[in-house]
Amino acid sequence: MSANGTHTQIFGDNAGLRGYWFAVAESSEIVDGPYRRTLLSQTCVLWRSPSGDVVAAPDRCPHREAPLSAGSVSAGCLTCCYHGWSFGDGGRCVRIPSAEETLPIPPAAHLGVVNAVERYGLVWLCLDEPVADIPTMPWDDLDDYRRINNPVEEWATSATRMTDNFLDFSHFPWVHVGTFGGAQNPLIPKLDLEQLDDQFYGYKYEVDASNPDDAIATTGVTDDVVHRHMSTGFVLPMTVRSTILYETGLEHILLLLATPIDDETSYFTFVMWRNDDFSVPVEEVAAFDRAIGAEDKLMLERLDGVLPMGRTGVVSVQADKASVEWRRQFAALLT
Ligand code: FES
Ligand SMILES: [Fe+2]
Repeated sequence: MSANGTHTQIFGDNAGLRGYWFAVAESSEIVDGPYRRTLLSQTCVLWRSPSGDVVAAPDRCPHREAPLSAGSVSAGCLTCCYHGWSFGDGGRCVRIPSAEETLPIPPAAHLGVVNAVERYGLVWLCLDEPVADIPTMPWDDLDDYRRINNPVEEWATSATRMTDNFLDFSHFPWVHVGTFGGAQNPLIPKLDLEQLDDQFYGYKYEVDASNPDDAIATTGVTDDVVHRHMSTGFVLPMTVRSTILYETGLEHILLLLATPIDDETSYFTFVMWRNDDFSVPVEEVAAFDRAIGAEDKLMLERLDGVLPMGRTGVVSVQADKASVEWRRQFAALLT
């Protein structure tokens, strides 16, 4: 229930969203396991099975419903902590200690797995038959670009508020005044929405960004202010991409990902691709953008509840045009 008294259930197991992929972990986090992640109110267990693939399944043992995430993983097999049933590749039940003399294993003992793939250094889940692929980031295949992953964090805000924020640059001079936002003119010029490529829909824009000392590892220059040619767009349901081109030719591409845990909590992560000379260590390049993310988190966690999705409830101006269009398309997906 939000403070304005309206309870808007968007993410509680919404069938309109179950066919899409959402990032829930960094691949590097899923070493053995088990790990617990929640997507659209469905709690899942994740582990790395003997084949090396990540397996995900509802966090419920088929025997007596113990949370499998409370179990343990050995040699890729997940063992339930209650009676020791074990599960291997593809969630197949491979051992029932109390019935070893009476195998075969009953078919219903195998886990009904959730679709899981690894891409761009992340583990993505899709609760139903996928209706769309993960957006393609072509820079991932280019030798002169490197990919930098960042931690998957849990934010106390709705994924709709996150997505609205990622599509908005009128907050830069306010929320990001402590990092890059101070040099930006708060007046937002007229925005024209367009198809940015065959996937992302959004807008192109130009901004000046402050370039304090702790930004130099990221921008590669020491000027007080740097000019950015940018584009920001979305792919439904909630994938946002921002591209930054500096005057030096440095490109910095951000994939901004909001994953709904439930209506009011979400995972956030972002992935960056850059055509720098790879000389600055990853942690130094990422530190400035992570500080920017922390500013967004602080702001969004001050807001209560979900973002109203109808035309009423919040007031928009032309600077909010991309978000208004995203909300219109997103609302049509919901059931
Ligand atoms: S509840 Fe998992 S083995 Fe019994
Ligand atoms: Fe922001």
